[in-house]
Amino acid sequence: MVLDSAKARKKIESVSDLPTLPTVASHIIAMANSPKTNAADVGKMIEQDQALTAKVLKLVNSSFYGFPGQIKSIQHAVVILGFNKVKNVVMTASVFDLSKGRKSLQIDIPKLWEHCLGTAIGARVVASSLGGGLQPDDAFVGGLIHDIGKLILDQFLTEDYMVVTEKVSADNCLIRSAEKEVLGFTHNTVGTWVAEKWRLPPNLLHSIQYHHRPDQARENREMVAAVHLGDILARSLGIGAAGDNRMPEIKTSVWQLYNLTAKFLDESIATMLVELKKAKEFFDLIESQ
Ligand SMILES: [Fe+2]
Ligand SMILES: [Fe+2]
Repeated sequence: MVLDSAKARKKIESVSDLPTLPTVASHIIAMANSPKTNAADVGKMIEQDQALTAKVLKLVNSSFYGFPGQIKSIQHAVVILGFNKVKNVVMTASVFDLSKGRKSLQIDIPKLWEHCLGTAIGARVVASSLGGGLQPDDAFVGGLIHDIGKLILDQFLTEDYMVVTEKVSADNCLIRSAEKEVLGFTHNTVGTWVAEKWRLPPNLLHSIQYHHRPDQARENREMVAAVHLGDILARSLGIGAAGDNRMPEIKTSVWQLYNLTAKFLDESIATMLVELKKAKEFFDLIESQ
């Protein structure tokens, strides 16, 4: 029996305790679209949340970002790093809270977040090396949130998702293929429903929707391709667990879009290994959930 996708969407959207994007993160996304936003407003808004402020300062001062000197306040961070970077660090510091305190019998949630973090690091490396209009920090957040649909499915269609995870074990298939077969839709679809509800910007929405089918993206193709590659590179390095043990292939459209070579992929993996060593504070955030 395959689920009716419209009914499943209704079911998920009607759940009153559907995780919401933390308040500060959703305000900051709205502020990003307003020409009136200034550094002082952003600083004040973030500083209302002390726990978040502490996390953001820890991250901006980590060796991952490698800024010289110590950044002591959010206002200071906004002036030095700019709004876009601070916005992305706030998203990063907030995103792991989406599954705070949750345990799952079928999905290893910390390992899934590690996979997302690995994907984020991979997407950032790819975006930095290839240049173009894509901001590496935007690609990072795209990677971080790309598999959010798996968390939602696990939490709100638990019994159906158990059939999916059992199928993955029995058939050793990609989790996405098992989702399609058992549910009739995938974590990409469910992630997109939630991203729409959260009013995420189109580049994040499209990378959630198309990271396994980058050839179908009509907008934000670089972002989608960077997350597609980040996902595969993270899997190849065995960072965390995506829910299956398979290695999806890089889609032809992505090879072509970026004129990729095997040498480029080897170099990206080498850079990822260096970046991973600097990402301790990010892994600590996952462990603290
Ligand atoms: Fe995925
Ligand atoms: Fe993934």
